[in-house]
Amino acid sequence: MPVPLLDLKAQHATIRDDVVAAMLRVVDAQTFILGEPVAALERTVAELSHTRHAVGCASGTDALLLALRAVDAGRGDEVITTPFTFFATAGTIHNVGATPVFVDIEPDTFNVRPEAVAAARTSKTKAVVPVDLFGQMAAIESIARSVPGLPIVEDAAQSIGARRMIDGEWRMAGEVATIGTFSFFPSKNLGGYGDGGMLVTQNDALAERLRRLRMHGGAKQYFHDEVGYNSRLDALQAAVLSAKLPHLAGWSARRRRNAAYYDAALADVAEVRTPVVRPENESIFNQYTIRVSRRDELQAHLKARGVGTSIYYPLPLHLQPCFAYLGYREGQCPESERASREVLSLPIYPELTEAQLDEVVAGVRGFFGR
Ligand SMILES: Cc1ncc(COP(=O)(O)O)c(C=O)c1O
Repeated sequence: MPVPLLDLKAQHATIRDDVVAAMLRVVDAQTFILGEPVAALERTVAELSHTRHAVGCASGTDALLLALRAVDAGRGDEVITTPFTFFATAGTIHNVGATPVFVDIEPDTFNVRPEAVAAARTSKTKAVVPVDLFGQMAAIESIARSVPGLPIVEDAAQSIGARRMIDGEWRMAGEVATIGTFSFFPSKNLGGYGDGGMLVTQNDALAERLRRLRMHGGAKQYFHDEVGYNSRLDALQAAVLSAKLPHLAGWSARRRRNAAYYDAALADVAEVRTPVVRPENESIFNQYTIRVSRRDELQAHLKARGVGTSIYYPLPLHLQPCFAYLGYREGQCPESERASREVLSLPIYPELTEAQLDEVVAGVRGFFGR
């Protein structure tokens, strides 16, 4: 039985009528740029994230770019981040003219180590960009406390709706950072029908600046306070996302249920390390990522059975050719490098059937002779 890594058609089939109707309303209104569909989505995402503001933009990458600009990161500045993430996290730091400073991760959560962030701070450090990887929030509060006074841009592209118990209260992804960023790339838990992104913040002035930056840097049309971008969320995407948003909590709960199923079914396979979610976190499991030493062989074995998997991420960013100019060498972020050799993400999407979950489990167990 084939089990793809992700099956967007399966999800679309469950919501098709609502999504198509929402898209048609935009098409009939012929208002495609910002407008009420985007404002409505911004209100619901702000509510979900417990933030005062949400600002739609063109992608998760642009959300990072706008956030970095809004905290004035630029030439001559250093921005501390993790090398074990999607490229955009560091690509945007480079693209605002700043220097990415890579620090290593915790081996269990794959998220950046707060102590390593604190140790990397210099007089040039302008901001920190922790990533909530695979659906689990980083230790945002510890990171913020370890670098007092520095803005925290939380890359929550993979973690909308994730939460973390901080000082006895549940806090949402994006809630306690200076700015949080989301991606609506189709493979995310809340995926659009194309590119899209959003920023959240509690800070009124930052929200206003982000709204300006996404519109060529001007609050008033044809008057520009600074040079910004054309980075708006399409009304069509906003309409799709608003139709999907009421399902997000249920979808993420099903992903957690699937994760628990795998956890139990693989618990006795000593060669497989299943994902660790810290007790203070509730993950949305954008990915279910195991660690194994014979990773490439296992991936080929599963592929031969028709089970789709992926390696997020095969080469940490400090070792990417485009960042050779930064002078990092192998061995400088050992946990990220080890993770890159060992990780394998299994299908976890909400519409998986029990038979499909069993197929994945049988494939993994079979490889290890169980
Ligand atoms: C951690 C992380 N940051 C940033 C992005 C960029 O988002 P987008 O693809 O919407 O530009 C992604 C996803 O693709 C991501 O996973």
